[in-house]
Amino acid sequence: MPTSLLAALPGILTAAREEAEQAKAAAAPLTDAEGTILHGDNLQALAGLLAGGAAGTVGLIYIDPPFDSRAEYAATVTVPLSDGRAVDITRPAYKDSWGHGGIGKLSAADASTAAYLAMLAPRLILMRELLAESGSIMVHLDWHVGHYVRVLLDQIFGRDCFINELVWRYGKMSRTTRRFPQNHDTIYFYARDPHRYYFQPVKGAESEYKKRYARRLRGDKLYWGDVKESTDRLIAGRARKRVKELGRELVDEDVLFDFTSEFKVQDDVFYDISIIKGNAAERLGYDTQKPEKLLARLIEAACPPGGLVADFFGGSGTTAAVAQRTGRRFITGDVGAAAVSVMRARLGVPIRALVDAAEAQVIDAQVRVLDGRLALVDFTYRDVSAVAAALGLDEENARKLAEIHEAEPLALAATWTVSTADGTEIYSGPVAPVEGPGAQVEVSDVFGHRATIYL
Ligand SMILES: C[S@@+](CC[C@H](N)C(=O)[O-])C[C@H]1O[C@@H](n2cnc3c(N)ncnc32)[C@H](O)[C@@H]1O
Repeated sequence: MPTSLLAALPGILTAAREEAEQAKAAAAPLTDAEGTILHGDNLQALAGLLAGGAAGTVGLIYIDPPFDSRAEYAATVTVPLSDGRAVDITRPAYKDSWGHGGIGKLSAADASTAAYLAMLAPRLILMRELLAESGSIMVHLDWHVGHYVRVLLDQIFGRDCFINELVWRYGKMSRTTRRFPQNHDTIYFYARDPHRYYFQPVKGAESEYKKRYARRLRGDKLYWGDVKESTDRLIAGRARKRVKELGRELVDEDVLFDFTSEFKVQDDVFYDISIIKGNAAERLGYDTQKPEKLLARLIEAACPPGGLVADFFGGSGTTAAVAQRTGRRFITGDVGAAAVSVMRARLGVPIRALVDAAEAQVIDAQVRVLDGRLALVDFTYRDVSAVAAALGLDEENARKLAEIHEAEPLALAATWTVSTADGTEIYSGPVAPVEGPGAQVEVSDVFGHRATIYL
């Protein structure tokens, strides 16, 4: 029985290697996963992909797993009502707690981290196998356990495969007075092969120096005439360098810094990307959603256009959405129903359930032809309190759901899709023109439940 977290690490790694092998041996092959949302435990997804022949195919894996924060995270959907009001309903999305008390001589905190590392390690082992020779992985964490996971990554990928420790400074407000306010996450970047990995430097970065001299700039340039009285040591140093280059004393119109061509390569500290704010257009109500700008920077640097990006802790689907937008292919997934329903609405791609669980039909809906157009005329839950319980709603949110269901149930229908008998999608939205017989209507609600109606 280990007496410290450090002493537990070798055992965690050995058990992880065994678990990864067992998962592969037990896995049903998973093929055609690209461009879909894998709903289920990612250990099964990873083992299935490897069994299906995907080893060595992924260009970039980005993961933003739970952080061992011991917090609970939620997803909020906004239901628009016909009178112009909008009601937020919040459901639990996932729990980030791993231990249930101390083990042996490990404290409760250490036991939680040990359980967390035991969850992550076999998954990292399988992820490495999926990477192409030119592939790499980025693991997004923070101060909670980043230092322990980095040790695992050193062991699993090799210390020589370490490329960068990126710091994302997200600019969150804090009132903390007992410590420096925590204001950054860390992203560990490892290559499958440090001599062959793909990397494209990111140009166009904002320079700290440019900010420093912002008030003296003319366009993107800093002229000697505008700063010659300055006592700034950087200016003095640059002036000496320019004198040497030009072989004469400087005149007012000599350029000291030209920020259009200098300091343009992004370094390992990102301070220009803010956390998703309450009013941001990209905000989807998923608590730990990351900004698209962050993912765009990582993907554009580490995966070539047309390459394959994978995110096995997909959450609201940020990685896949950015891959779609920037011309990369993707594989994504999540174990949580809330995440999967947010992702489906965001990405508009099919869900693949990894465990065959017949989805209980909770919705009754009716479509009718009104004025020559097809309209959704009725939408009810068979048992609204059972829906609330299955979603894990607390009392207040269950009450809000029941009230909307009573007063305006159609507001809970998010989308509906009409397809012909051969599966061709012909319409999505609130009303549609009637198309030939044999059409099928799929109705889904704001939580991602679905029901099929045959016309
Ligand atoms: C920090 S969130 C990811 C947020 C995401 N980057 C975004 O931008 O929305 C972590 C996600 O990992 C998922 N998760 C945790 N354990 C998992 C597992 N074993 N398999 C698949 N997903 C898992 C959680 O449900 C949660 O959605």
